[in-house]
Amino acid sequence: MKKELLKYLEESNDYVSGEALAKKFGVSRAAVWKAVKSLKDSGCAIDSVPNRGYRLIRQADSIDGDIIRKNMNERARELELVVLETVDSTNNEAKRMLAHGFDGGALIIANEQTGGRGRLGRSFYSPKNTGIYMTFLLKSSLALSDAVTVTTAAAVAVAKAIETVTAIDVQIKWVNDVYINGKKVCGILTEAVSDFETGVAKSIIIGIGINITTEHFPDGVSAAALGTTKPVRNQLIAAAANEIIAIYDALPDRTAFIEYYRQHSNIIGKNIDFYINNIKHTGTAEDIDENGALVVRLPDDGVTVLSSGEVSVRPAGSEPPETK
Ligand code: BTN
Repeated sequence: MKKELLKYLEESNDYVSGEALAKKFGVSRAAVWKAVKSLKDSGCAIDSVPNRGYRLIRQADSIDGDIIRKNMNERARELELVVLETVDSTNNEAKRMLAHGFDGGALIIANEQTGGRGRLGRSFYSPKNTGIYMTFLLKSSLALSDAVTVTTAAAVAVAKAIETVTAIDVQIKWVNDVYINGKKVCGILTEAVSDFETGVAKSIIIGIGINITTEHFPDGVSAAALGTTKPVRNQLIAAAANEIIAIYDALPDRTAFIEYYRQHSNIIGKNIDFYINNIKHTGTAEDIDENGALVVRLPDDGVTVLSSGEVSVRPAGSEPPETK
């Protein structure tokens, strides 16, 4: 009955009373309530209003390995696909796979993370059903110093995937946050397993978290969700995989994705604050260089190039950095 009820609510486009549904399906109102609850548990958003009944707000957006694979191109399909209901962190899972001797490329996806990790030791809010939490584990022979490139490449891949699948306009905030309408919707945590002697990253772990329909973020977290009403998670995951693999395979050629990155940067031309060795500096974000590093014009008219770290845009109306 669950499937039929979902179809009926989808077609109704308005509130349908519990009584009408009970009559339609020849069951008790309690059975209707139970079926609605079960649909809600599987991720459907259904509004219930006393005296009016039930209305479908959003269908469930279940993660399905078969659909993801179908939407991947041949090259992306070479990744070992691991789909988990819940995990502490998909980046941790990637590290566990390496520790157990896994030696290929993989894409690990979870419907929920209980210990999602963000950059700079922060946590990443990862409730079930409402986001994409995934990690690409890729074999590498890149120099550790190329890490900034991988990070920018991942931001471009996600931004392109969101644009292709949802037609929503996105911006990228250096180094790898994806924004819509001035709010962060996606964060990326890149880690590497390296050989210290050679300075080569043997494996690269690219963890991506995208808020799809997440609401009520924890206090202090300023973020937003894409807010799509149709199921998009499988398509977005596949599109991001296709983009990441294409960019990764083209390395060291970076021209195409750096150009996209520049065009979508939301900080070029803005006054920013940034930290070097815990000391706050100010400047103006001037450009993204050919490696994805941020070129900053300093108040004394000098230039510094940031390869990692975090910048914040100074609020409009605040004092601009002093110039010569
Ligand atoms: C940030 O914005 O600080 C980065 C957030 C990265 C979150 C993703 S979700 C999938 C992967 N697993 C994690 O524990 N973190 C990354």
